[in-house]
Amino acid sequence: MKCYFYHKPKRAIEPCTDAEKNKMAKKRLDFLFENQKSLIPKRYLEQWDKVALYNPKGNVETATAILINPEDGAYDLTNKINDLTGKDWTKFTCSWFIFNALPSDLKQEKELDEHIEDHPATFSPTMISDFIKFFTKEGMTVLDPFCGIGSTMEACRRTNRVGYGTELNPKYYNLILKRVPEFKSNIFNCDAALIPTLPIKGIDFCISSPPYWDILNRSTHEFEKKREAKNLDVKYSDEELDLGNIPDYELFLKKLAQIYLNIYDVLNDNAYVVIIIKNVKKGGRMYPLAWDLARMLSNKYVLKDEKIWIQDKVGLSPYGYPFSWASNIIHHYCIILRKEK
Ligand SMILES: C[S@@+](CC[C@H](N)C(=O)[O-])C[C@H]1O[C@@H](n2cnc3c(N)ncnc32)[C@H](O)[C@@H]1O
Repeated sequence: MKCYFYHKPKRAIEPCTDAEKNKMAKKRLDFLFENQKSLIPKRYLEQWDKVALYNPKGNVETATAILINPEDGAYDLTNKINDLTGKDWTKFTCSWFIFNALPSDLKQEKELDEHIEDHPATFSPTMISDFIKFFTKEGMTVLDPFCGIGSTMEACRRTNRVGYGTELNPKYYNLILKRVPEFKSNIFNCDAALIPTLPIKGIDFCISSPPYWDILNRSTHEFEKKREAKNLDVKYSDEELDLGNIPDYELFLKKLAQIYLNIYDVLNDNAYVVIIIKNVKKGGRMYPLAWDLARMLSNKYVLKDEKIWIQDKVGLSPYGYPFSWASNIIHHYCIILRKEK
């Protein structure tokens, strides 16, 4: 017979054998399905006959969680942020993660358009999907002001969220439209500074990776040589509005911060903003770009946290050897901010 109620008497979630509790749980599940569908994520609604009620202490009256497979964890119906089970929620809260480009993502991109490889600095839709799944529920809106070739938009498509964005370079913009035609009317080929003037409103989550100052214009000879040999872009564009072409650090920082400060007004209350960025080096010294940007934005947003992304498959070069200290930077900061009133 199907069990309608689970509890956690010891370390593991177990079916409850009390017939009366199972009867009460079935009644509550029927009520939920009839009257409170909007609280229930789609994947549970689609398999409702497999769903059970859950309360760790075995109290049916106060139970607010549902589950299908106990091993996957339970979903709490009072969850205001996302559609994740408690188990998946906790997994994502680790302050660091290792992620290297996935062959499956690269293959999908290449199949879409051979020019997609032209862009010199993209991130993976799979990696961004994990952020989107944590910071939004299905159907919510996600903004990327620096869309590139549309990795965030592809992540929105995969996770059933609605993507919005801007991208300055028309070549990359056209690739995005080819990739996610369903978001055509939400994506604009323009300067991200114009976002407050565009039909972009009520955004639930913003995730992006801006130019890391003019780092591409100063890439190692090796990087340029390899990409030029394949006829690939070695910078985003020659445009003056391209933030990657501003050589003065303070001016770059000011313009970048202003874009994110403007975005505040198009966000819903309590929306999170994640910015993926690095501290950078120039002329033998470090510029704490990630930290400076976090400090500037925390005058308006609440600075919540950092999550460190490590790419451990990048080859190390003997920078500085044998005279001075110079690291191989293989980590990025995912700065997490929130619009709180
Ligand atoms: C690090 S890349 C983003 C890559 C993107 N995350 C992806 O996976 O494809 C930064 C992007 O910002 C764009 N960009 C630079 N300045 C901009 C501006 N002022 N407004 C909008 N986009 C800009 C560049 O053309 C570049 O594609």
